Amino acid sequence: IKRITTHILQEMKGRGEKITMLTAYDFSMAGIIDAAGIDIILVGDSASNVMAGHETTLPITLDQMIYHASSVVRGVRRAFVVVDIPFGSYQGNSSEALRSAIRIMKESGAHAVKVEGGAEIKESVTRILSAGVPVMGHLGLTPQSIYKFGTYTVRAKEEEEANKLLEDAKILEESGCFAIVLEKIPAKLAKKVAETVSIPVIGIGAGGDVDGQVLVVHDMLGITQEFKPRFLRQYADLRGMMTQAVEDYVKDVKAKDFPNQSESY
Ligand code: KIV
Ligand code: NA
Repeated sequence: IKRITTHILQEMKGRGEKITMLTAYDFSMAGIIDAAGIDIILVGDSASNVMAGHETTLPITLDQMIYHASSVVRGVRRAFVVVDIPFGSYQGNSSEALRSAIRIMKESGAHAVKVEGGAEIKESVTRILSAGVPVMGHLGLTPQSIYKFGTYTVRAKEEEEANKLLEDAKILEESGCFAIVLEKIPAKLAKKVAETVSIPVIGIGAGGDVDGQVLVVHDMLGITQEFKPRFLRQYADLRGMMTQAVEDYVKDVKAKDFPNQSESY
C-alpha cells in the first residue's frame, strides 16, 4: 500500500480528483475508515464533543489529543493523518505552537497538524513548518473561537468577512500550508478560494466546488444525536443499529437464551 503524502494530495488537486477526509479518534474506527480508502484522517479536536461529551472543543488538552492521535496512527496504513492542535496550545506565541506541534509529531507518529485562523497565526505556521512539520489551515467557522462569534451559523456571508477570509487563505498558502479546511461558508466563496489558492481546499458545509470534503465520522455514520446541519449527509443509522443490538443482548441474557450450549465451554 502506498501512503498518502502532501505531494499526492497536491497532485489530486492538479488533476481534479476529489480528496476524501473523515475524522477518527481511536484505533478501531481509524482502521475501518483507512481500509475503506479514505485519503486523510483528521484527529479533530471535535473529540472534545464526540468522545468526551463537552459542549465545545475548548476543554480538550494537548495530552488528550496525543492519546487520540497515537491510537489512530496505530490503526492506519494508507491515509495521511492530521491532528488538531487544541485551543490554548498555540495561540500564545510561535514557540508554544512549535513545541505543541513537535510533541504531537513525536508522541503520536502523526503526519501533520492543523490550526485555526489566518493572519493572526501566520508566524506560528511559519515556525512549525521550519521544523519540517506540514500544517493544514482552517478558516470560516472556527470552533475554537466560538465565544468570539457566539453562534455556529454560516460565516463570511458579508463582503468584509468574505474578503478577509480570502486574504487569510492567501496568507496560509504563502506561509506554506499544504491544505486548508473551510467550514460552513457560502459555496460561492469557497469556490473562489479553491480557484485562488494552489493548495487543496477541503470543505465542510462549503459546497461542492472545492478540492475535497470532510465530515465528522460519528455524524455521517449516524452515531451522534441531535446534530443535523444542512451540510451533513448521514450514510448510516449506527445509533439505531447499536441500540437494537444492545436491546437484543439485554433481552437474550434476561431470557437465559445467551449464552447457549454452543457458546459455552
Ligand atoms: O475537529 C474537527 O472535527 C474538525 C473538522 C470539522 C474539520 O476540525
Ligand atoms: Na477541529
